[in-house]
Amino acid sequence: MRDARRRREIRDYYLGISPDEITSHLTPSSFDLWDSVARYRRELQIGARWLEIGGGMGDLAAAALDHGYDVLMTDIQAELLDTAAARHPRLRTRLRRADIFDARDVAALAAQGPFSIVAAVGAVLNHARDQSELAHGFDHLVALGEPSSLLVVDLMLSEMFPGHPASVWADFLHVLPGFGDLARLTRASGLHVLEAHSLYHRYPPTATFDREFDERMLRLFFHKRIPARPPRGAARSLVRESRRARPAPRRRVPSPASDPPGTRRAARRRSRA
Ligand SMILES: C[S@@+](CC[C@H](N)C(=O)[O-])C[C@H]1O[C@@H](n2cnc3c(N)ncnc32)[C@H](O)[C@@H]1O
Repeated sequence: MRDARRRREIRDYYLGISPDEITSHLTPSSFDLWDSVARYRRELQIGARWLEIGGGMGDLAAAALDHGYDVLMTDIQAELLDTAAARHPRLRTRLRRADIFDARDVAALAAQGPFSIVAAVGAVLNHARDQSELAHGFDHLVALGEPSSLLVVDLMLSEMFPGHPASVWADFLHVLPGFGDLARLTRASGLHVLEAHSLYHRYPPTATFDREFDERMLRLFFHKRIPARPPRGAARSLVRESRRARPAPRRRVPSPASDPPGTRRAARRRSRA
């Protein structure tokens, strides 16, 4: 009985909307970091103080400056900060050495806050020693953001690699969390996932690994808000409101169960040298 009613509801809804609303084929499937950040800044009243963790050679931090952000960039490696300063001299006064897993470094950074946008892209958090350290690093990122702030975080997840390995590179210590770990971290911090995109890069064979290697990671945009969790009952009323505004979620296109034919997989750990 309930099934029959559900099917009737689905039929009535989809027969009542236009073809371009039913199809997911036309939904934009690419994203632009700057467009997304600018949109959330407008919609969520987010400021312009940009903190980048593990900024490496400074290219993103320099681009953030070009986009008008008030940038502070960090990295654990002093040599990389020197490289960033040489590549982008205008970053010179905006560079700090900090280890995102070190509570003292993070406290010193927080003293230079508050930060409206905290970015850790390029799998910085994967450089943790183990899952527990990764969770601390994630908490540190969240703590560095002001009460309404945007976090942009890239993570390589175990399930994105064949065999769900604990690590994929042979040449540095790192850890791959799973989707479950990510969900727990997200919920524990009361974060709202605004966007999640899959990044993909194919590395050519190297002297130490004789095959191409597919690297995948998720780029996540989170909103940190205070109060981090909605008051009791708020979630239900939110659904009722949105249903009034829009009748029901659109049909989802079934996701492929596996990689498309022809996708090659890395069969063993590879050195990134
Ligand atoms: C793959 S690179 C990405 C660089 C840059 N974010 C980008 O996307 O171009 C990872 C960076 O994380 C930095 N890193 C590694 N461990 C770190 C830590 N504990 N705290 C801060 N940065 C770290 C590395 O030095 C390196 O610059």
